[in-house]
Amino acid sequence: MWTLSKRAMNITPSATMALTAKVAELKQQGIEIIKFNVGEPDFDTPAYIREACKKAIDEGMTRYSATPGVIELREAVCQKLARENHVQYSPAEVSFSAGAKNALFNTIMTIVDDGDEVILPTPCWVSYVDMVKLAGGVPVLVPCREENGFDLDLDALAQAVTPRTKALLFNTPNNPTGAVYSEQTLRALAEMALQHEFYLIADEVYEKLIYDGEKHFSIASISEDVRQITFTANALSKAFAMTGWRAGYVAGPQAAIAKINALQSHSLSNVTTFVQYASIAALQGPTDEIDAMVAEFDRRRKYVVARLNEMGFACRMPKGAFYVMPNVSSLYARKYNGQLLQDSNGVANFVLEAAHCAMVPGAAFFAPDNIRISYSNSLENLTRGLDQLAAAVKTLA
Ligand SMILES: Cc1ncc(COP(=O)(O)O)c(C=O)c1O
Repeated sequence: MWTLSKRAMNITPSATMALTAKVAELKQQGIEIIKFNVGEPDFDTPAYIREACKKAIDEGMTRYSATPGVIELREAVCQKLARENHVQYSPAEVSFSAGAKNALFNTIMTIVDDGDEVILPTPCWVSYVDMVKLAGGVPVLVPCREENGFDLDLDALAQAVTPRTKALLFNTPNNPTGAVYSEQTLRALAEMALQHEFYLIADEVYEKLIYDGEKHFSIASISEDVRQITFTANALSKAFAMTGWRAGYVAGPQAAIAKINALQSHSLSNVTTFVQYASIAALQGPTDEIDAMVAEFDRRRKYVVARLNEMGFACRMPKGAFYVMPNVSSLYARKYNGQLLQDSNGVANFVLEAAHCAMVPGAAFFAPDNIRISYSNSLENLTRGLDQLAAAVKTLA
């Protein structure tokens, strides 16, 4: 029978695809759209990393390599985790993958069985839901409240735990909210996981993009017991402006990592070998370019939040990542093209058509009254885009 699998039929295409298509359509009409929908740093990969890659190619690092990554790379990851995250891992507890997305996918496929529940605090990154579904699991969405700065709601999370709970997947600093979970909150979460015997999956890809003296805390650093039930996913993508290189990893309990490697041995094989060598350079290199990138993001963050609040949007100051999530409900009941604006999809469409700015409707992240603005764009473009937005808002009936 020429039918596609139920698995494939159940996959929801990325919520941002429709937006990308509309942006392309407007561009074809000669309209320039300022992109605030971007999920990657607008900086180049630092030169020392690019040089390390070229050197690796010239030295012939162009063949297959060990499935979980070459040993020098896994050692570099372990050193990084010990130095920056205060967790001790051995190379056998690390699997290097094609970005954090691949690492998270492998992890979920390895621990989730049919009907297992995975708790996802929302707003959250869209791919989590589909990854859990692909593994046959059931995503259990637990909202974080905007009035609490989108912090984890421990009571609501506790209420969502059932005998079928297999894991809780969280992301700090958070995409899309920019929330950073405190050590105290993460300790309480770890207690809950130990008591109810579920895994923790910590997505730490934005750990270096953190502001106002906030400190990123890795839940796996709490104790050996917590380390044994935690999968820490991370990547070089956002921290080193290396999104296109596809380099990330997961660190976790050895027996599970062995299975993740087995899975990867039948799918990816290994991350591009010379990218692995460039990744060693990234993990061990100087941090000044990264520090400068973070300082620039910080400048833009403050500017964007101030402008949005001036315009009448309620916008909290996020503590991490490179997104802000203003609440757009102040525009509800106003009319654009004769139609009432009544949700974030309508507002995103208005912003695109009338202000020529692409922003992702919060509905894509289960935040129906918010809109996600990425400030991974130049201050000049941010200024122009926000001027256009302010002017467009004034025209609403
Ligand atoms: C929260 C979160 N996790 C994981 C990823 C995936 O990162 P990578 O590009 O390393 O696969 C992203 C990318 O947008 C993200 O926002």
